[in-house]
Amino acid sequence: MKKVLVAGSTGYLGRYAVQEFKNRGYWVRALVRNSEKAKQPGSYFSPAIDTLADEIIVGDATKPETIAAACDGVDVVFSSLGMIKPDFVHTIFEVDYQANMNLLDVALKAKVKKFIYVSVFDAHRMMNIPNVQAHEKFVRELKAANIDSAIIRPNGFYSEIGQFVARASSGFMLMVGDGYQRSNPIHGADLAQVCVDAVDGTAKEVNVGGPEVFTYLEMVDLAIEIAQTKPIIFPLPLWAADVLVAGVGLFNRDVHDVALFATTLSRIDIVSPLYGTHRLRDFFMQCKTLVK
Ligand SMILES: NC(=O)c1ccc[n+]([C@@H]2O[C@H](COP(=O)([O-])OP(=O)(O)OC[C@H]3O[C@@H](n4cnc5c(N)ncnc54)[C@H](OP(=O)(O)O)[C@@H]3O)[C@@H](O)[C@H]2O)c1
Repeated sequence: MKKVLVAGSTGYLGRYAVQEFKNRGYWVRALVRNSEKAKQPGSYFSPAIDTLADEIIVGDATKPETIAAACDGVDVVFSSLGMIKPDFVHTIFEVDYQANMNLLDVALKAKVKKFIYVSVFDAHRMMNIPNVQAHEKFVRELKAANIDSAIIRPNGFYSEIGQFVARASSGFMLMVGDGYQRSNPIHGADLAQVCVDAVDGTAKEVNVGGPEVFTYLEMVDLAIEIAQTKPIIFPLPLWAADVLVAGVGLFNRDVHDVALFATTLSRIDIVSPLYGTHRLRDFFMQCKTLVK
């Protein structure tokens, strides 16, 4: 039986990855920062992992001494460890790059056979964004390291649009740009399948997105239909969004970087190879149950 370490296991994707590895018969060690978090379901219906994982270890990958034994006896490391929103403690580079480097270091010492890492789709078109730069700096180090590896390059996750129905229900929504940019977001359970497939697959890079392509406007319309409301949609032209983002940057670089991600995505079509079975309509229906 293969043994895997899942880093980022209390995150949206990591929880589904733990579940999928278990479903495929792996022995799973989950790296968490807070063991209490493992007992609770995660955001947008992602599962609790305490009863799924075979072993839960506590460690903070930004502190190498706390993860020194994390890879002992493990065949595969899967990492969706990253910082998608500022925590006001670490910089993006400390987490997305350095924490993953610390993990790679430990994996090499433990002679792990394969390292699967989650970056982003079409990173080369978004190299203005520090989060993407940090991911890709790690990708370069991973490819150069003496270990078999695979890079998963997904489109946006359903968790990132999970608040659409709540916003529609609140009666107010923001529209950055004209809303005509297309993308195919992916459910965590579908993406986890692709991640686990990569262990025995030969592909070094895997581009993937969900099974349906929408414009941003179409996603907003779907959320409104499901919320059964008529919200006010406040249009924010891209030039105004840019001014706001630049202004935020004067006060906080990390918030600026996340906002820059949003404005960059509002400018370009991001459509990756279609995969999966989870439909956005069903996900939004589920999200409606969260609206008070
Ligand atoms: N969300 C998207 O739309 C999207 C799209 C493409 C690519 N990605 C990339 O995919 C990855 C996973 O995304 P996600 O949405 O699943 O993120 P997420 O829900 O925020 O999960 C991130 C995970 O990393 C863990 N983590 C952060 N710092 C850590 C540290 N120092 N030591 C140990 N664990 C640490 C978090 O632990 P805690 O639970 O303790 O905070 C959490 O389990 C990220 O790298 C992201 O950039 C995301």
